[in-house]
Amino acid sequence: MMNKSRLLIHDLPPGFVAAENYDEVVEASGTIRNCIGCFTCWIKSPMECVLKDGYEHMAEKLAACDELVLISKCTYGGPSAFVKNVLDRSIPYLHPDFVIKDGQMHHKQRFPQHITMKVIFYGDDLSEAEKESAGAWVEAMAVNFDAAPVETVFCTNAVEVRQILSEECIRQEKTICGPQKRDVHLPLSKQEEAAIALISGSPKKKYSTSGKMLEELSAFLPKDKTVTELHFSGNEIEENTLQTLAESETLVLSLPLYVDGIPSHLLRCLRDAEDFFADKMLPKSVYIIINCGFYEGEQTQTAMKMMENWCVRCGFSFCGGLGVGAGGMWHSIKDVPPGHGPKKNYGKHLSALAQKIEQQAEYGCVFTTVNLPRIAYKIAGEYGWKKAAEKNGITL
Ligand SMILES: Cc1cc2nc3c(=O)[nH]c(=O)nc-3n(C[C@H](O)[C@H](O)[C@H](O)COP(=O)(O)O)c2cc1C
Repeated sequence: MMNKSRLLIHDLPPGFVAAENYDEVVEASGTIRNCIGCFTCWIKSPMECVLKDGYEHMAEKLAACDELVLISKCTYGGPSAFVKNVLDRSIPYLHPDFVIKDGQMHHKQRFPQHITMKVIFYGDDLSEAEKESAGAWVEAMAVNFDAAPVETVFCTNAVEVRQILSEECIRQEKTICGPQKRDVHLPLSKQEEAAIALISGSPKKKYSTSGKMLEELSAFLPKDKTVTELHFSGNEIEENTLQTLAESETLVLSLPLYVDGIPSHLLRCLRDAEDFFADKMLPKSVYIIINCGFYEGEQTQTAMKMMENWCVRCGFSFCGGLGVGAGGMWHSIKDVPPGHGPKKNYGKHLSALAQKIEQQAEYGCVFTTVNLPRIAYKIAGEYGWKKAAEKNGITL
């Protein structure tokens, strides 16, 4: 019988897991840089990340494995910043072209195998909501990576992780994702000049869809509001920025979906904010906008739940969010005003969101996409990737 090739990605201290049981171990040795969303790994140096820090060959490592084991601290119902960072850097394992699987858009596989996936989450104070989100994230991520079968297990600490590994019996835990349960949050008492912080969570310095969506939202916000614009593009939040957040009654975070979750640099920022706010009892109304590259806005649901879990950890009120598909085309339709053409439905939802922000009221979770058939988005997207690659002498 052929031996399975095993790849382990974990966030425990380097050397904690016995490496001899794996063909490849990826752990936090050295400094890992966060994905900057440049897509060079698709259009210029296929399969290889432009950031040369020892983590640039993740796609190759995935291509060589039959079994992927992830060990991660469960963070807001998803992987930790380190494990997520490695996964964000792994996207060239997939081909940029699109396919439709189970009625939703995904990337084409470059490789024929179906990797077996085992995910061990640890954490001693995980809520049921976090476990539920984590299970949903594994399922979603497995579809994108064409992995099957998938096993997810939760335990409390690193000692238990070691026990599970030594027993070699990772029990299967079915995570049932029922309808979204949401606490009812009472609106905060409306203040005369409630300050709103608009925060982009894209790693891109310019031309980000997240930033553009905030700009489009601002146009719907009343002019008498004090609005502060912030950009979390790095791995930490500076002290004075945390102060600005503390002084804002309302936070609106706009972020891209990365591997069905929160980009790793933003996870680190969210953790900084949690450390700062967790014991301060500073209630805030938080609204989320998540855009994703696939057509269906619903694909942002996993990350939306993680953002809700983050709010709970910070003592904030999650007031809902807007998940928008087809974010990849925002730059090419930057001059189309919300409420028109491909932004017809999006504009309607954005204006409703702005109203709720003004009233500090519950918005709920709304998922939308462009007013354009999916096939048109698919063809345009694939043409865009092909042309961009051709400019670099690459044939996709
Ligand atoms: C590392 C990485 C992972 C991504 N993962 C997903 C994903 O799982 N699903 C999806 O629909 N789009 C995914 N995308 C596409 C982004 O969500 C999309 O390009 C988005 O519009 C970027 O927004 P921004 O310009 O605000 O950064 C991913 C992009 C990158 C760079």
